[in-house]
Amino acid sequence: MDIANTNKLSGIRTPYYYYDTNLLRDTLKSINDEVSKYDGYFVHYAIKANANLKLLKIIKDAGFGIDCVSGGEIERALEAGFSSEKIVFAGVGKSDWEIELAVDNNIFCFNVESIPELEVINEISAKKGKVSNVCFRINPNVGAHTHANITTGLAENKFGIAMEDMEDIIKMSSTMKNVNFIGLHFHIGSQILDMSDFVALSERINELQDKLVADGIKLQIINVGGGLGIDYQNPQENSIPNFKDYFATYHKHLKLRPGQTVHFELGRAVVGQCGALITRVNYMKKGAVKQFAIVDAGMTDLIRPALYDAVHKTINLTSDEPEQLYDVVGPICESSDVFVKDIKLNAVRRGDIIAMLSAGAYGEIMASQYNCRRLPESYTSDEI
Ligand code: LLP
Repeated sequence: MDIANTNKLSGIRTPYYYYDTNLLRDTLKSINDEVSKYDGYFVHYAIKANANLKLLKIIKDAGFGIDCVSGGEIERALEAGFSSEKIVFAGVGKSDWEIELAVDNNIFCFNVESIPELEVINEISAKKGKVSNVCFRINPNVGAHTHANITTGLAENKFGIAMEDMEDIIKMSSTMKNVNFIGLHFHIGSQILDMSDFVALSERINELQDKLVADGIKLQIINVGGGLGIDYQNPQENSIPNFKDYFATYHKHLKLRPGQTVHFELGRAVVGQCGALITRVNYMKKGAVKQFAIVDAGMTDLIRPALYDAVHKTINLTSDEPEQLYDVVGPICESSDVFVKDIKLNAVRRGDIIAMLSAGAYGEIMASQYNCRRLPESYTSDEI
């Protein structure tokens, strides 16, 4: 990502998110180039990763669909101009008003996570005189080599319908007049870099599909969810994820029946590398054993280190003096408000500008106002 550009933003209040929209466009192009190699592959951007309107418009212009998990996300997607026929709507706890909003807007498909939810969707659709497309999210009991807090496809997780209940819910849906069963949905977790996890998912889907076909049940679509990870250690060298291997893995291992389409819900891999959190050093402090750089961004602006032990590559944009060892910490009254420990940075002084890279996904959107802090602003390379 081109971070040098942020020099032009000096004088602007920190902390803020900076987005390299050229990198975003290159990333979208790379996805489109790979997807176009295969028939019937379609990507829905997982808006939960970043719902900044400036980015959403670029993603929409690249032709992507959208994956939402709340009524608010559906509203934001529509505001950005995404067509409702490209919206998929997942989530274990959809409220009635959210289902009504989705039905009113004729979204492409609900990803249904339980039998009680299916009954409510059927009821609300009937009340509105509509028939809603549904996919069933199946919990495939496939692990992912990633942090426990972002693993979703194990039997112990709250997500999806147990595999043994799959046929029952499909049969039940065929007796309901206001839902139309079109396929299955899966998502095993996030920040997955080991392609063998996607191979395992494909093999499980093949097994399930064989079983359904034997029972005369046809699927129009298979939605494999998202999860492709990014390189947090070397973001500048690997600024665009390996979409070639990702889509080729599914192409090789996922067995499709004629006319079937495959849907993907990528979030982090689309926007992760194009964003950085820019913060200013407020104070330097020598502790008994540590040297702290206290910055004006906190866990309220980027919670990933506190929540998932994530390490974002951190650089001092102001200094080129010899490196020293620092803990970079925020101002929030919580011991977990630490961005990174024992990191080498070019000698830091009060006022220096620090960038935390790979913060485009699950950064700005997870910001909170704890301690009555202001939410961070955002700027893009298009604007400066
Ligand atoms: N589809 C479903 C059903 C999901 O639950 C998720 C992410 C995605 C797609 C997009 O996954 P991605 O391609 O971005 O890996 N806040 C955490 C990540 C939480 C992911 C939640 N679900 C983090 O900062 O690492």
